[in-house]
Amino acid sequence: MNQFTFHNPTKLIFGKGQLEQLKTEVPQYGKKVLLVYGGGSIKRNGLYDEVRTYLDEIGAEVFELSGVEPNPRLSTVKKGVEICKQEGIEFLLAVGGGSVIDCTKAIAAGAKYDGDPWDFVIKKAEVKEALPLGTVLTLAATGSEMNKGSVITNWETKEKHGWGSPVVFPKFSILDPTYTKTVPKEHTVYGIVDMMSHVFEQYFHNVENTPLQDRMCESVLKTVIEAAPKLVNDLENYELRETIMYSGTIALNGMLSMGVQGDWATHNIEHAVSAVYDIPHAGGLAILFPNWMKHVLHVNPQRFKQLAVNVFDVDPARKTDEEVALEGIEKLRAFWTSIGAPSRLADYGIDDSQLELMAEKATVFGEFGHFKKLNKEDVLAILRASL
Ligand code: NZQ
Ligand code: ZN
Repeated sequence: MNQFTFHNPTKLIFGKGQLEQLKTEVPQYGKKVLLVYGGGSIKRNGLYDEVRTYLDEIGAEVFELSGVEPNPRLSTVKKGVEICKQEGIEFLLAVGGGSVIDCTKAIAAGAKYDGDPWDFVIKKAEVKEALPLGTVLTLAATGSEMNKGSVITNWETKEKHGWGSPVVFPKFSILDPTYTKTVPKEHTVYGIVDMMSHVFEQYFHNVENTPLQDRMCESVLKTVIEAAPKLVNDLENYELRETIMYSGTIALNGMLSMGVQGDWATHNIEHAVSAVYDIPHAGGLAILFPNWMKHVLHVNPQRFKQLAVNVFDVDPARKTDEEVALEGIEKLRAFWTSIGAPSRLADYGIDDSQLELMAEKATVFGEFGHFKKLNKEDVLAILRASL
């Protein structure tokens, strides 16, 4: 294992009826609250009214920023920063999925920064402080509710980058699976693909002696693989929503990457794809991940074999490591297809006309990936295999 320090300060409040805890959590941080949400799902499922009722009961002065887009945009971050600075906002409450939470993190940091928030997204500036934020999660997918990451898109320049800072860990996150029952099948599937991809990003590393990390990753994957097909056919099933929601948080709250250095190349390539085409993050991941796996399999076939046997129940008898590994990758592809995830860029109408541009965007900060360093040619090969 590598040396590590683990510190995750987010208070996780999980389960049915927990929304009411807003009344004890929010007042700890201030009275002037900016409520951030997306395109209206929380109004349609009644969550908005419940949140407003609790905020009214504690006498909060509430300002609103609505319309945060999936793949949240810098322009929306700037709107939020302006409200914070003009109104003297003391606390931000994100109610939504990963996009709303990521946008809120960027607003929280932007409110304490004098320049353009894009500076810290592209690491031109370091984030030193941020307004406190909390979340009410409505979609199980990104893990943003319990991590320090955020992904922002600059639509003018067609760039999408992740950034992170310990100062934007949510102070608390309230996760009541009830509110995820209205997530449509399509986004439920994307969430499942995203959380599985987060586990893969952390599972593929070159660090030795990680038996517990490996088994924790494999357990999350097996749990999701067991629950997902049932959930996509029974979207209002509370127990399945609960299992998937908890899995999504565990998949990316730092628990699985203690002592290891994950890869994260596929996420980087996907961010380049969705910067150019604005496709759903996990739709891109479903297409790219098996192709990344095939591209880098030679680095450590044994590790891919372990995944195939332990998670996808591939029988290794009389097969080479590589054959077992490839069978596992095919089983992953078949699993994602079976729940309705896309498998080719063509599924989004993407052809080979912008491959160069996407490969350039993916390598704008140079070579990337920790399991295997990728250069522009590698990215092009993975993109071509994904057409
Ligand atoms: O905007 P509204 O109306 O709320 O609708 C949303 C949106 O259209 C809808 N939705 C959310 N909760 C719902 C609901 N619909 C019905 N009922 C509910 N309860 O779902 C759609 C997608 O929402 P979004 O927040 O975009 O999805 P997700 O949570 O998958 O977030 C995706 C974003 O997170 C970034 C991605 O790149 C992408 O920009 N990521 C963030 C990470 C992080 N911060 O750690 C890591 C991830 O790898 C990822 O890159
Ligand atoms: Zn992701």
